[in-house]
Amino acid sequence: MKKNSTIKVCLFPAAGYGTRFLPATKSMPKEMLPILTKPLIQYGVEEAMNAGMNTMAIVTGRGKRAIEDHFDISYELEHQIKGTTKEKMLADIRHIIDNCTFSYTRQKEMKGLGHAILTGEPLIGHQPFAVILADDLCVNESQGVLSQMVKLYEKFQCSIVAIEEIDPQQTDKYGVIAGIEIEPGIFRVNTMVEKPAPEDAPSNLAIIGRYILTPDIFDILQQTKPGKAGEIQITDALMEQARQGNVIAYKFNGKRYDCGSIDGYVQATVELYNEMKNK
Ligand code: UTP
Repeated sequence: MKKNSTIKVCLFPAAGYGTRFLPATKSMPKEMLPILTKPLIQYGVEEAMNAGMNTMAIVTGRGKRAIEDHFDISYELEHQIKGTTKEKMLADIRHIIDNCTFSYTRQKEMKGLGHAILTGEPLIGHQPFAVILADDLCVNESQGVLSQMVKLYEKFQCSIVAIEEIDPQQTDKYGVIAGIEIEPGIFRVNTMVEKPAPEDAPSNLAIIGRYILTPDIFDILQQTKPGKAGEIQITDALMEQARQGNVIAYKFNGKRYDCGSIDGYVQATVELYNEMKNK
């Protein structure tokens, strides 16, 4: 784990219903769906650790207790496999448990991503923090997306969102930004729209599930009215910061799989499997 990151805490909003994976997600959190042998949220926690964070704040909801159990010791199981060849399969998760602190709070009503982030405020306090949506699985051989974003935070000291170019016909699935490209792949954001129709989209640069947020976002979220779909949207709150010139959008290096959709989930599984086989 990298030492002395300026960002210490990573928030995981994980309260959503995951309806696209029903019935699998009827009693199991979407974040616990595995890609090969690891649940999605473990990939996210590893990415945060690699970016120097050791405090994981997780916003859960009803039916999500499996997440808490995953990041805890399982005495009986560990006793059973102790000394066998299977013991090494738990090495990664043991490393996480031994090096991170986990805290949890529940979002009682699913009022949107912005509301989920606001629900996490008591776990964060007054400090800048990262946000990972675990269903966006990001892979990069050399440096994780969050590590790249921490570097940018250190330079710009404002909120950072990760973006990628999408098919212009798909803008109604994302928050979409526009801004001034101040360095290659780095934009000072001046417009943000949640899920615009293709004809209304300001660009094809879509926000993906990685953010670094400054703590004033909580006060803004308190004042943010429900927007698209009646939900409190993080995009609307970020637009407030963008008006002050305080949001940077970053075209990250790496690959993202939208594991909240069946297509992305299967693609991630196949590609990570092939990679594992070819190692
Ligand atoms: P999604 O839009 O993917 O929604 O949320 P979902 O409910 O998880 O999945 P579907 O669309 O029904 O299949 C994006 C992220 O925001 C979190 C989700 O857990 C997911 O990580 N979220 C969303 C919350 O924590 N609370 C909310 O009220 C909404």
